[in-house]
Amino acid sequence: MRVIDSVAQLRAALDPVRRRGGRIGLVPTMGALHEGHLTLIREAARVSDEVVVSVFVNPTQFTDAADLAAYPRDPETDAAMAASAGATVVFAPTPGEVYPAGFSTGIRVGGVSEPWEGTARGAAHFDGVALVVTKLFLMVGADAAWFGRKDAQQVAVVRRLVRDLNIPIEIHAVPTVRDADGLALSSRNVRLSAADRAKALAIPRSLSAAGAAVADGETDAALLTARAHEALRAAGIEPEYWAIVDPDSFAPLTRIETESLAIVAAPVGGVRLIDNELLSP
Ligand code: PAJ
Repeated sequence: MRVIDSVAQLRAALDPVRRRGGRIGLVPTMGALHEGHLTLIREAARVSDEVVVSVFVNPTQFTDAADLAAYPRDPETDAAMAASAGATVVFAPTPGEVYPAGFSTGIRVGGVSEPWEGTARGAAHFDGVALVVTKLFLMVGADAAWFGRKDAQQVAVVRRLVRDLNIPIEIHAVPTVRDADGLALSSRNVRLSAADRAKALAIPRSLSAAGAAVADGETDAALLTARAHEALRAAGIEPEYWAIVDPDSFAPLTRIETESLAIVAAPVGGVRLIDNELLSP
């Protein structure tokens, strides 16, 4: 496994692979790797000849400077974990390598990027994600890239971006990896106290309750949303949003007639958690 920090070296490493017809897989990350990230890397490694894991805390997608400064960084551990899951290249560029002096191009994905996370974190968030993901796709020249359904709206934004710009890459979405108690793995979970962690379990529970109700024939999104709000409030959680949406457009639904997505964002003990679950009638 090689650790590479420049685009020139990356191209030099990957050009021969591409010339001999090898498949290049990409897993974009911001580091602080956990089992969720490793699952994406293992999936990529199953079908790729070369697996590039990018580790880059992308400044353009942070709308809060303190959040960016506090983001956990541990390059050595990340490289070792990525290698153990099947990465053949860790691409860990500096901010200056990705955004050299004079950089002045932007990308905005309209529509699906606007509600929910787009509103909560500000439009700059998905602009920054779209920009860095496009740059990574072009820098790596990957045949396919793997993303986690944990960030479902991010997956929808990336799919829209790839379609709209005719980027020749396959996008794979991997189911959310959870702890045994049901909490979705996240780099932020380490900041939860034991009590807040227990409290946070009301979030995945509110989603599975909706999933079970829909499987039992419930189709009324307003009713399910009200129940979820009630359950979260009873646990002492005030959600930023809990909603049922179309999985591609993220437009809110009133009736659940086809596969739909329940999405939630809620602060617990000062930590902002997001989660989602597919609802299948
Ligand atoms: P990051 O938060 O590091 O996540 C990297 C990838 O891991 C994302 O596709 C995310 O959805 C996935 N992931 C995180 N937790 C997961 C879990 N519990 N189960 C399954 N997958 C999980 O998302 C980003 O970085 C950035 O926005 C990025 C796409 C790298 C662009 O900068």
